Amino acid sequence: MGVAAATILKTAVIFLCVFSGDAKFETFTRSYHTFNKSLESQANSELVFQNEAKVNQDALQVTADTDWPSANAVYDLRNRAGRVMFRKRFYLWDGDATTNSTVASFNTSFLVNIFPIYGDTPGEGLAFLIAPTIDIPANSANQYLGITNQELEDQANNGIVAVELDTVKQPFDVDNNHIGLNIHSIRSVVSESLTPLNITLASTTPAFHNIWIQYNGSEKILRVYIADQPNITSPTPPMPETPIIAYSLDLKQTVHRESYIGFAASTGAFAELNCVIRWNITVKHFAGPKSSLPTILLAAGIPVVVGLLALAGYLGYRVYKKRLADRSKSNILSRLRTLPGMPKEFQFRELKKATNNFDEKRKLGQGGFGVVYRGVLPEDSAEVAVKWFSRESLKGEDDFLAELTIINRLRHKHLVRLLE
Ligand SMILES: *[C@@H]1O[C@H](CO)[C@@H](O)[C@H](O)[C@H]1NC(C)=O
Ligand SMILES: *[C@@H]1O[C@H](CO)[C@@H](O)[C@H](O)[C@H]1NC(C)=O
Ligand SMILES: *[C@@H]1O[C@H](CO)[C@@H](O)[C@H](O)[C@H]1NC(C)=O
Ligand SMILES: *[C@@H]1O[C@H](CO)[C@@H](O)[C@H](O)[C@H]1NC(C)=O
Ligand SMILES: *[C@@H]1O[C@H](CO)[C@@H](O)[C@H](O)[C@H]1NC(C)=O
Ligand SMILES: *[C@@H]1O[C@H](CO)[C@@H](O)[C@H](O)[C@H]1NC(C)=O
Ligand SMILES: *[C@@H]1O[C@H](CO)[C@@H](O)[C@H](O)[C@H]1NC(C)=O
Repeated sequence: MGVAAATILKTAVIFLCVFSGDAKFETFTRSYHTFNKSLESQANSELVFQNEAKVNQDALQVTADTDWPSANAVYDLRNRAGRVMFRKRFYLWDGDATTNSTVASFNTSFLVNIFPIYGDTPGEGLAFLIAPTIDIPANSANQYLGITNQELEDQANNGIVAVELDTVKQPFDVDNNHIGLNIHSIRSVVSESLTPLNITLASTTPAFHNIWIQYNGSEKILRVYIADQPNITSPTPPMPETPIIAYSLDLKQTVHRESYIGFAASTGAFAELNCVIRWNITVKHFAGPKSSLPTILLAAGIPVVVGLLALAGYLGYRVYKKRLADRSKSNILSRLRTLPGMPKEFQFRELKKATNNFDEKRKLGQGGFGVVYRGVLPEDSAEVAVKWFSRESLKGEDDFLAELTIINRLRHKHLVRLLE
């Protein structure tokens, strides 16, 4: 380190600051033209397969298929449920319950083939799913489509939204060949028979259905479209102009803020192959309250004689407090206050000014946790070192507080080492 750094750190007293910018969207996009085994077999693959779900024949087999290694495979294909979900968790809305903020937006399109295994009677269905867990609920075969079960069914807080392709008529269904929007329940809030469109979801003569689901978080309308293609190699037809379902849906009121996205399916007394052959998806989601929190550590030059006072401040608190639940807020505050010394709060603009807008020339170094800048506080011309934690390096408030505590304890060591 240079002379400047030594000068500063000689009298180091530590400040820690948390900063959070405006609500930020991130875009997640995947385009699977085909699926291969590596998606299923790799540890930490981006897709998680539940129960007998797997990749076979270049497709996602969301429920057990004939490749399932079971002694009694054909009969075991009945009464099954499976899921294929992204391992990634998506922040789908922001803010607390009272603010009228935008929620995430997404578009997805996928090509499916549903093939009845026992004669021409299929069972039960395949769904595009938003759920609070990757894990499939127990006993979610048959009518539950791998999305709910008896306990979760119709619970207002179960966080479930799904678009179902249903091939069995339950007493509450329109027919055995419909598409429906399911909110918290397998009883669709809206469903449309596909028979008038000459679309047969489960057909013994191979049928290939394209489904588009679009959700715009500003409009808060979910739209579903469907169009067949003649065979598996045909080009994807254009998305129809008219949605088969258009429904006002506020994701913030229906799904958990942190949700998972993927497919669920089930078989029942009869069975079908539930295959997803191609899949495009784009999710414009929030970065999330934790990962979106770059933290700033400020080490300020304050004469040692003033006392070995560690000062922790945090900035952007106005923005930050909007992001965290009250519980978290008081948690971080109370834990900051348990540290020796009284926390001091800095505005982000003060630190920006002190470091001349985080000027490259003021960089003192870069460590495992981020970049350190030399700065001068305007009020008392105190020389400071400002450390900006990269958000990858600090994963949340616990890490942040742990780091603060460690740095706080280490300050004597720093002083001793630098004075040598
Ligand atoms: C399997 O799929 C992944 C991701 O789609 C791709 O990167 C990889 O090249 C594929 N591997 C083979 C052998 O096709
Ligand atoms: C939320 O915003 C939308 C669009 O700006 C508006 O139509 C709606 O009335 C607002 N709702 C509330 C509860 O403020
Ligand atoms: C979804 O598609 C529409 C066009 O159909 C596009 O305007 C919009 O930006 C897309 N949204 C996302 C989140 O990709
Ligand atoms: C996925 O996107 C690609 C590129 O835009 C397009 O060619 C393909 O038809 C899409 N597939 C589906 C199933 O929508
Ligand atoms: C469905 O098929 C019938 C008979 O082939 C035809 O008359 C009808 O126009 C078709 N309907 C649609 C919506 O394509
Ligand atoms: C959502 O719709 C609004 C207004 O129709 C549009 O301005 C915006 O770009 C759309 N956002 C996405 C992500 O599609
Ligand atoms: C698949 O459909 C396309 C038209 O979309 C056609 O040209 C082609 O011959 C068909 N292939 C097979 C194997 O049926």
